[in-house]
Order: sequence, then C-alpha cells, then structure tokens
Amino acid sequence: MTQTAENTPYFDVLIIGSGAAGLSTALRLPSDLSVAVVSKERLREGCTLYAQGGVSAVLDKENDSIESHVKDTLNAGAGLCDEQIVNYTVENGPKVIEWLIENGVDFTTEESAEGDTCYHLTREGGHTHRRVIHAKDATGREIETTLLGQIKQRSNITLLERHIAVDLITGSKLGLDDQRCHGAYLLDRQQDSVNAVRSRFVVLATGGASKVYLYTSNPDISTGDGIAMAWRAGCRVGNMEFIQFHPTCLYHPQAKSFLITEAVRGEGGRLLLPDGNRFMNRFDERGELAPRDIVARAIDHEMKRLGADHLLLDVSHRSAEFIAEHFPTVQKRCLEFGIDITQEPIPVVPAAHYTCGGIVTDQQGQTDIDGLFAVGEVAYTGLHGANRMASNSLLECLVFASAAADAIATAVDTMPPPAAVPAWDESRVTDSDEEVVVSHNWDELRHFMWDYVGIVRSDKRLQRAKSRVDLLLREIDEYYGNFRISNDLIELRNLAQVADLIIRSAQSRTESRGLHYTIDYPQTDELLTSQTTILTP
Ligand code: FAD
Ligand code: SIN
Repeated sequence: MTQTAENTPYFDVLIIGSGAAGLSTALRLPSDLSVAVVSKERLREGCTLYAQGGVSAVLDKENDSIESHVKDTLNAGAGLCDEQIVNYTVENGPKVIEWLIENGVDFTTEESAEGDTCYHLTREGGHTHRRVIHAKDATGREIETTLLGQIKQRSNITLLERHIAVDLITGSKLGLDDQRCHGAYLLDRQQDSVNAVRSRFVVLATGGASKVYLYTSNPDISTGDGIAMAWRAGCRVGNMEFIQFHPTCLYHPQAKSFLITEAVRGEGGRLLLPDGNRFMNRFDERGELAPRDIVARAIDHEMKRLGADHLLLDVSHRSAEFIAEHFPTVQKRCLEFGIDITQEPIPVVPAAHYTCGGIVTDQQGQTDIDGLFAVGEVAYTGLHGANRMASNSLLECLVFASAAADAIATAVDTMPPPAAVPAWDESRVTDSDEEVVVSHNWDELRHFMWDYVGIVRSDKRLQRAKSRVDLLLREIDEYYGNFRISNDLIELRNLAQVADLIIRSAQSRTESRGLHYTIDYPQTDELLTSQTTILTP
C-alpha cells in the first residue's frame, strides 16, 4: 500500500528529540511554521534533565575573556577541535544564556562585593576561570522544564510523546534521484503501530550513545538512535572513538546512573584513595581540576593498582550550609543511600558520560543530506575535538539550535514539499517468538564494550570487540528482517550499529590522544594533530 501525500501527516519541520537541542530548535523557529517535536519517552526524559554542573559562557567580562574560553576548549580538545567552530560557539555563549534567561530559566544568584545581585559562576575541570552558570546542581532540570513550559504555549508545535523514530525516509530509499530527507517512520509506542511522517526538514536531536556501555551516567534513552539512523541514510560520522568517561559517578549497588557533579571538585572537593590520601597531583599539576580524560584515567589506574572497586570524593570540609545551598540534589540522593556528604566522603567510579563524535555537520547543523539537520550531542560539529570540556555540551546544544533554526527559516520557502512516501510494510514479519534474543544481545554488547572499548584500550581488545559486534550485527539484522519491531529491538539495532562505529574509529587511530587511550600506542603522534576520524557509509 502506498500512502499518498494527502493522508500522511505533514509538518514543515520534524524535530526528533525533546532535550535542550530539540526544544530550543523548536522555540527558535518562526511561529508560522508547523513543527512536530518527537520523544521516544516522556517529553522531559533525556540527558538534559539530569545535567547538573551548568552551562559555560563568558559572563564575567572583568576577569574572563572569549580568548580564554576558546583556549581552554582547544586545550581540552587535544589538537582535534575545529578552531573556527570553537570561536563561533564561545562567541555566541553570552547570547544564548541571555535567551534562556528571557525564556524564564532561573539561574543561581549571589550578592557581589558591592551588594548587587549577580549570577553565581562555578568552576569545572579544564576551565581556567569561573564561567559555569547554573541552577544549583540541577541546571538541566531547570532548563528542560522551563523550555517545555514555553513549548506548550506554542500553537504551531505538536508534541508526540512516546513515539520512537525508526528510520529516516530519504530520496534514495524512495528511488528518487534527489539527495534529501522527506520525513521519518515513527513507532507509536502506545498504539504499537508504525506511521510515516512527511516533512520539509528533519532535525535529529536524539542525544548521545552512552548506553552502549555497561556503566553510564546517562538515562536509558541514550542509545545512539540518531547517529545510527543518519549513518543508515548515508551521512558521514566523525570522531566516534572519543567517548567521555565522567570521573565521578556514585558507587552504590542500588544507585543507577547517578552523577556527582564536577562542580563538587570545582568548589574544593578532593579525590581520595581508600586510605584517605589525595593522589591527583601525582598525575597532573591541576589536580582534581585537570580535564576529565586525565582524572578518569587516573582513577581507573589507581582502582586497578589497588584492586579497589571505587575511590572517594570528599567535600565534607565545606560547611553544611554551603553544601546544602550548592549541591542539594547530590546531597539528597546520597542521603537516600545512607551517605551524609557533609560528614563523609562519597564512593565514586568513572562511567560513560558523553559521545564527543557524531553526525558530521557544518556550522548551521546541516548534515550531508539536504533537509536533514543534527543538533546537540548527536552531532559532530568540531567543538569538542578529542575531549569535551565540562559544561560545553549544553552550550553547543543552544548555539547550534539557534543556527539550525535560522538556516531552516531561510531555506523554507525554496525547499520543495516532500514526496509521497510508502506506508511501513509489515506484510512479511511476524510477532517475535524469542524476546530473550534482544535482552541477551543488549547485555552482551554493553559488557564487551565496557571491557574492551573502555577507558584503556588495546589492539587485541578492540579486535575482540569487533569480532563480537560483527556477529551481533548479523544476528540482529536477521531478527529485524523477520519480526515485528519493538522499542527494545530498535534501540538494540542502533546500539550495535554505534558500537561498530566506535570500534572501527578506535581501531583506525594509532595513537593515544584525549579520551582515546591505547596501551599499544601510548604516545600522541604529532603527525595526527588535526586528523579527525571520518567514517563514510
Ligand atoms: P538529550 O537531552 O539526551 O535528549 C535526547 C532526546 O531525544 C530525548 O527527548 C529522547 O527521548 C529523544 N530520542 C532519542 N532517540 C529517539 C528516537 N529514536 N525517537 C524519538 N526520540 C528520540 N552538559 C553540560 O553542558 N553541563 C552539565 O552540567 C552536564 N551535566 C550532565 C549530567 C549528566 C548526568 C548527564 C548524563 C549529562 C550531562 N551533560 C552536561 C551533558 C548534556 O546534558 C547532554 O550532552 C545534553 O543535555 C544533550 O542534549 P540533547 O538535547 O542533545 O539530548
Ligand atoms: C557535571 O556536572 O559534572 C557534568 C558537567 C558536564 O558533563 O558538562
């Protein structure tokens, strides 16, 4: 059956993802465009909701400067940032913060020495100045809920909750000779039906892929769907080997994915060995505030050396009032597990946190396919290079959302309407007879990615991971071709695809740099400076 242009839902812009990137793109678009925002879970669920530390931007004009923020970002990125993109992002930082404030985001304030009220700026690793604006230690929640509140007042925006995008509809899939995107197939999780949606533009704002690892700070939605869909549609991906491991996630058998913000270290928190001694100065003169790759590797090294299952982070030397004022979320969560952070150190371990690579885009979020944009953690813009500096991610979401919305607004009148698209074809599939295949493969994938493609890699480990992922991809493909799709199957297929991209990118980098560390090539190869890893489908 072929659905016609008349009976397929149509929007000017289909935005897949409702985190900081998706919501701000939607709000920035002209209000005479019809826009749909899709989320596979509840609308607010995503990494944005859990962001703690804040957003980096040059707001203290007396002590800080654009040049300094640029320099720190380039330093953290270890020779792989695109300098033009770094300049562009940092220069736009103050403007996007102003936009958030205009939209009602309530950042933490303090009283200045002169008695004026001003925004409190905290510090995080790699930053040489205080430049992280925040809403206590729940910045993401404040941004997400405020922007969602704004979106709900916009009559041109349709919200599709619990709809998971399955695949993009491109001209080449339709047998047309254009190289553009015409919409996407969405699985409605309540109705259990797959529907086509046509649109002039599609924006992928689906976040990262950290769920590919066994231990992660990310919520369950981070399954790399956008990266996998774009790859299948023919887009290049860049720098997928650079997976950031956050040094300090809460270690407790019942605590799933809970981050202890880097701002705790920014405000004096100390990393300790089980015997209570500090150790970071042995690894880097910046101590606890060295960039994340260095701190995570140091913790991993000490845990392996001592056979410890976690190390400690201590902020109990700060006053109880200070802790309650700055870290209420961390304090409350730790107390639920019987840890009083005003009195005792917090058990911590590193965990997968951020996907530095992604779909290759230009400065306006445009991908290799006409009409297809990618914004936020899903994208590779060139900002982060080999290691993202803390709090530069929300900044990137906001700056590139604005750029993509401008580009779409400019192009909308000249973009022809999308083609008619066929309905989803289920004529040759049946209901799954063995759901266990999905859950088993999901567990296996996340285990071997953690063991073989984690903080410390080697040729042998990567080869082991590659053999396993090849096998899984074949098995999943066969399963996908024979059975009716489900949310879990879609995610597993995407995770396996992204795992393969991570492994292949890691295998191609014959050096250690930033977040990619391999014992077979422990040094940085200066000849590879500026060499982005680009994979082409
Ligand atoms: P997300 O906020 O992750 O949103 C992704 C959206 O896509 C969700 O709505 C999801 O449902 C939807 N989606 C995904 N796949 C599909 C699909 N197939 N179909 C339909 N919908 C789909 N960064 C900072 O800069 N500062 C911080 O302080 C900070 N703290 C962090 C703390 C934690 C615990 C974590 C996990 C991350 C933190 N980060 C921080 C990183 C930052 O939060 C994320 O990089 C950023 O929020 C990503 O935003 P996004 O809009 O790209 O994706
Ligand atoms: C944190 O609060 O430590 C997370 C900050 C970030 O990932 O940018």
